[in-house]
Formats: sequence, structure tokens, C-alpha cells
Amino acid sequence: MKKISLSGIKPTGTPHLGNYLGMIRPALELAKDFQAFYFIADAHALNQIHNSDELERLTWEAAAAWLALGLDPEKITFFRQSDIPEVFELAVLLAASTSKGLLNRAHAYKATVEANLAKGRDPDDGVNMGIYTYPILMAADILLFGSHVVPVGEDQRQHVEIAADIAQAFNREYGEVLVIPEAVIREEAAVVPGIDGRKMSKGYGNVIPIFSPPEQLHARIMGIVTDSRPPEKPKNPEEDNLFGIYKHFATREETEAMRRKYLRGGFGYGEVKQALYEVLERTFAATRTRYEGYLLDRLSLDRVLIAGAEKARASCAPLMRKVREAVGFHVAGKTEEHRKV
Ligand code: TRP
Repeated sequence: MKKISLSGIKPTGTPHLGNYLGMIRPALELAKDFQAFYFIADAHALNQIHNSDELERLTWEAAAAWLALGLDPEKITFFRQSDIPEVFELAVLLAASTSKGLLNRAHAYKATVEANLAKGRDPDDGVNMGIYTYPILMAADILLFGSHVVPVGEDQRQHVEIAADIAQAFNREYGEVLVIPEAVIREEAAVVPGIDGRKMSKGYGNVIPIFSPPEQLHARIMGIVTDSRPPEKPKNPEEDNLFGIYKHFATREETEAMRRKYLRGGFGYGEVKQALYEVLERTFAATRTRYEGYLLDRLSLDRVLIAGAEKARASCAPLMRKVREAVGFHVAGKTEEHRKV
């Protein structure tokens, strides 16, 4: 039996190059050796998005993005979180074995509280219970499928650790029912620079979206910050934002040639920007066409997600039964068994 890789994609914005290198590409690579479950975490997005049309649209966009980037739904179980009622059921069971202190320490919640205190506001200002219990729902996603590895970005490390803690607490009380998961994080992708040189992150507004039309992609690349050294001077490629992105998408030969060019000097950044634009177009032009195609055919997208949800529910049924039985809930056939003895 293959081990299980699972990850969730919160549909709150359009995916960017940092997401691609940090999470999407590694997750698709892991799927070659693992049995993979990847899903759109729309119930997590619900904590931020209270508009049904928007949530639906973002869910479709995320689904189209993953399919366009190469997710094969015949090989990977690909679904929408909200189509799996077992996730919500498991979250309730796990909550009963989760200490409140564990959630008080979750970064996302802690950061909000600290920001509130700094502004002299009530510590829980703007915090809904969904944000507070976010790590429990995420633990339910992960534990429901007996996941061994969880490919995520660095920002999700703590959430996976909390899921492991919750599983351990549950197992201590009820026996070895849940698999203890482990995060898989690609360090090299944690350093993809955004257009301002800080780590590429939606929160900084410095991202390069994967699916921008060519003109927008071009404009975005032209806006990447570089140093002001004159063209004739040699430059250190490792300190440059353009090179920091280029090297992930160019071939090895192209990257080496570019590296030599930097060290030699005698070129302008405009030239590098053009080269970066060309490798990105080469990498993503066909993907973008596929993406747009999927979005024009939402019926098929929905069919893919519904078929995925059916597979996912069948896969998690045995574990759900075990968990219900472990805590003392009713499971089909159990009462009859008791009668026999
Ligand atoms: N919290 C993750 C994010 O914001 C999304 C997510 C939800 C997830 N459930 C998950 C990731 C389970 C991995 C496993 O990116």
C-alpha cells in the first residue's frame, strides 16, 4: 500500500509563482510516489469570505488552476472540502480532545490578538470562532484520510504540527486510531522573491500571478525592483530578485549563461526582465489556455469535483467508522453484534 499525501488549497486568491514552487509543484511530484488526496478548502475560506458568489467563483478558479497545472483527477483524488460531511463530523470529535491552550498558541490567532492589543482594542476583535478553531478543521482534513505527509508552505508548518498533537491526544485516550502526519516543506521555494524583493506572498501584495494575461505579466515583471548599479558593472546574481525568479523556470544551461552574464557585467536589467518574461510565458502559456478553458466549462469542473468527493468519501468511511466506534457513538451493525454475545 502506498503512503498517503494530502493537502488543501484555500481558495482565497489567485495562485502565484510562490504558491506554485512552494506547494503546487512539490505536491504534484509527491503524487507520483504517494496516494494523493488534494482538495479545495472552501470551508476554511468561509472564515474570510461571506459572499456565496465569490466563494463559488474562487473555488472554481482554484480547481481550474490545479487541473491546468497538471493534476490528473484519475490518479489524484481531487475534491471540494465542503462535499465531505465526514470532515465536519470528525472536527467535532477532535475538538473534544483538543485543549484550548493549543489553539491559543496558533500563530494566525495569536498574531490577530497581538495586533488588536497593540491598537488598544479588545483582544478578540474581528476573530470569529472559525478562525479560532481553524486548526481543528484542518486536523480533521488531514487525519480523516490517514495522511502520512502533508505538502505545504512554511506558513502552514505549525498547523500540521497542531494536527499531529491533536492526533496524539486522541490516540492517548482511545488507542492507536489516527496516523500521525508530518509536514513536507520545500525550503528552496520559501525564498522566491516577490516584485519588491521580500518573500513572494499575497499578504505583501508583491506576487506574480500564474494566470495573468501576457500584457499584465509583462507589466508585473517590468515592475520588479532591481539595484541601481550601472549596466557595465558586474553583479551578484544571488542578490538579485530577477535572477531569484528566473533560475526556477529557466533550464540549467540558461541559468548558467545568465549567471555568467551577471558576473561579467555589461548588460541591463531590462534585458533580464525580457528573458524572465519569455521563460514564464514558455512555462505557463499553455497552462493559461487550459485554465481559461476549464473556467468556461464549469459543469465539467463540477463533475470532476463531485466524482472526486465520491472517491474521497469511500476512502474515509472505514476510518470514520473506527473513530465513531472508538468514542462510543453508534455504528451500523454494532448493536446487533452486542445482542449476539
Ligand atoms: N490552511 C491551509 C492554507 O491556508 C489550507 C488547508 C486546509 C490545508 N486544510 C488543509 C493544507 C489540510 C494542508 C492540509 O493554505
